[in-house]
Amino acid sequence: MIFTVAIDGPAASGKGTIGRALAHRFDFAHLDTGLLYRAVGAKVLAGGEAIAAARALRPEDLHAEGLRSAPVAQAASRVAAIPEVRAALLEFQRRIARREGGAVLDGRDIGTVICPEAEAKLFVTATPEVRAERRYLELVQSDPTCTRDAVLADVKARDARDTNRADAPLAAAEDAVVLDTSEMSVEAALEAALALVKARLPAG
Ligand code: DC
Repeated sequence: MIFTVAIDGPAASGKGTIGRALAHRFDFAHLDTGLLYRAVGAKVLAGGEAIAAARALRPEDLHAEGLRSAPVAQAASRVAAIPEVRAALLEFQRRIARREGGAVLDGRDIGTVICPEAEAKLFVTATPEVRAERRYLELVQSDPTCTRDAVLADVKARDARDTNRADAPLAAAEDAVVLDTSEMSVEAALEAALALVKARLPAG
């Protein structure tokens, strides 16, 4: 069976948690596509050139240390605005999306550009303040010096860059179901996502 769940949304909206849970529940492959841009961003921070790094990217690069840090997130958002970087990462994502056995991809442009034919599309969002608070609680565990204000500023800068870029900006596909998790528990958000996928799965 070919079945793609496309999950898009801004930073720290909860799309990763939902994506992982859905993949687990249906035994689908899962690709956090932000990791591709983070891996390229990390290479640029280490002195590499973005387009060359994207073209040379290997699957094992997605497991590199430190990809979750704030500086790498900003670098990822910057390299993600370069059309040649996006083009270099496109085929890898499409192959996973349409592989036999089902796949969940989360990112910014999965339902719009990578897999417009996805059988189920979700756009997961929340207010910048709620998303920044979630990200702060996560980051402060490994970096006690990070502050709520700095994380909120980071989230807003990334939102602006990801939404306003010309190539494949962050946007909900017309046929995506929008899930605003600002006032939703993780369980309630998962429940809604599960219901959508179940409704779209072929019967039997
Ligand atoms: O989802 P994330 O926070 O790990 O993504 C990091 C950056 O990568 C994000 O700010 C924008 C970029 N990105 C993208 O442009 N397209 C995607 N499909 C996924 C991420």
